Amino acid sequence: MERPSNQILAIFGASGDLAKRKLMPSLFGLFSRGFMPEKFAVVGVSRTKFDDESFRKYAGENIKTFLKGKELNAEMLESFLSRVFYLCIDTCNENSYLQLRGKFIDVREKTGVADNILFDLATPPDMYSIIPRALKNAGLNKSQEGGFRRIIVEKPFGSDLESSQNINSELLKIFEENEILRIDHYLGKETVQNILVLRFANGIFESLWNRNFIDSVEIRASETLGVENRGGYYDGAGALRDMVQNHLLQLMAFVAMEAPATFDSESIRDEIAKVLRSLKPFSDSDIRKNAIRAQYSGYAQEKGVAKNSSTETYAALKLFIENWRWGGVPFYIITGKEMPEKTSEILIRFKAPPQKLFKGQCCGSSCNSLAIRIYPDESISLMFGLKVPGAGFEVRQVDMDFDYKSISPTRLPDAYERLLLDAMLGDNTLFARNDSQSYSWKFVEPILNYWRREGRKNLHIYEKGTLPPVFEELRESNLCKINPVHIESGK
Ligand code: BG6
Repeated sequence: MERPSNQILAIFGASGDLAKRKLMPSLFGLFSRGFMPEKFAVVGVSRTKFDDESFRKYAGENIKTFLKGKELNAEMLESFLSRVFYLCIDTCNENSYLQLRGKFIDVREKTGVADNILFDLATPPDMYSIIPRALKNAGLNKSQEGGFRRIIVEKPFGSDLESSQNINSELLKIFEENEILRIDHYLGKETVQNILVLRFANGIFESLWNRNFIDSVEIRASETLGVENRGGYYDGAGALRDMVQNHLLQLMAFVAMEAPATFDSESIRDEIAKVLRSLKPFSDSDIRKNAIRAQYSGYAQEKGVAKNSSTETYAALKLFIENWRWGGVPFYIITGKEMPEKTSEILIRFKAPPQKLFKGQCCGSSCNSLAIRIYPDESISLMFGLKVPGAGFEVRQVDMDFDYKSISPTRLPDAYERLLLDAMLGDNTLFARNDSQSYSWKFVEPILNYWRREGRKNLHIYEKGTLPPVFEELRESNLCKINPVHIESGK
């Protein structure tokens, strides 16, 4: 595996939740596995009063907390933290960026790192134009020494088409498109990347991967947690903006895309953009029929949530991709908080055989399916019918499983580890491109507007830990109950 070149990682919002839970533990995870550059420095930037030493202590404690149970070597941690620095500034005040410039010079002297900087904006989105502009005015957005600049932007990337385009056009005045890395942590998940390999490194699936053989595709991400302490953000977002516009539509694009001409980032991102551009727009009557929203009971009493909030904590869509491969195949996208279980999976349902010849034979489109599981286990399983041993021809549904643990006994890297490594390497394949962001916003915007107009009218309320009953109404396909037997692959 290639190692990134020497660089500084400048994390804005370094004392915030994301840096604490994901960024610092992931950087340490990369360091322990030997994937960090030979020379690097992490510079935390935020308003909270820390200096280098106290920030190291704070970061060390968080790494221990969030890497619990995973590899943690005290000496290694010490060595990582010796490369961590901190600058306390008011990031809204442009004058303070001269201090940041000074800090970079100082850190480079201490660590011998070249003039390469990866900025990570782990901040509220209202900083996405303020920080880049201040970086530009301080001359920090370009290297004077032939080094590189890159910038990672976390979601939410705007709240509608217009705001996301405004953020983009501001960013594009300061950085080039290939320097902007819009992170979507779902694309850092191993199983998601494996969709490309499963489809394009095998001859068996791709020939069936179209409207002639596939009945429907279901992409589901349910969570048992509610909005926790993020009510303020979530109430302005809702499930459609929080999960569908980005994570789930990107997953859908991986499932639906054509094979790229070559395996390079632009060819892959071209294919992703084409899928999102081909989404059939929802008319008002499509929304009434094919878009369901619901809210868990008690949501409006959560901290930070408006008392009469109509924000959806559950959304289910039945959508169509209008192209030759997928014309007429429904894609179900379902996500919700406070659900009975936490699962993320993609289910490809194949069409049923035309005849029912055997006793016990499964009858519907759920009988032959391919499940690509992202959570709880990263695994893939194929479901089909086999003969029960003994006399007669009785059929039993079985599933053939592939579990990642069987290919690699070590833990799978966290999605952020993979994406931060790619960002350091300058590989933007797994980051959302400007155009695909806009196509997804274009698709979800009419639904958002319609729901806003409706307010609480037609908003379903569901009890925590239950599924909103409405979804089965949306899915009219012929599903039948099955009772799978487990077969280990390769046995
Ligand atoms: C985030 C959303 O992007 O993804 C959260 O903002 C959600 O609301 C989270 O809980 C889900 O991620 P995962 O990896 O736990 O499925």
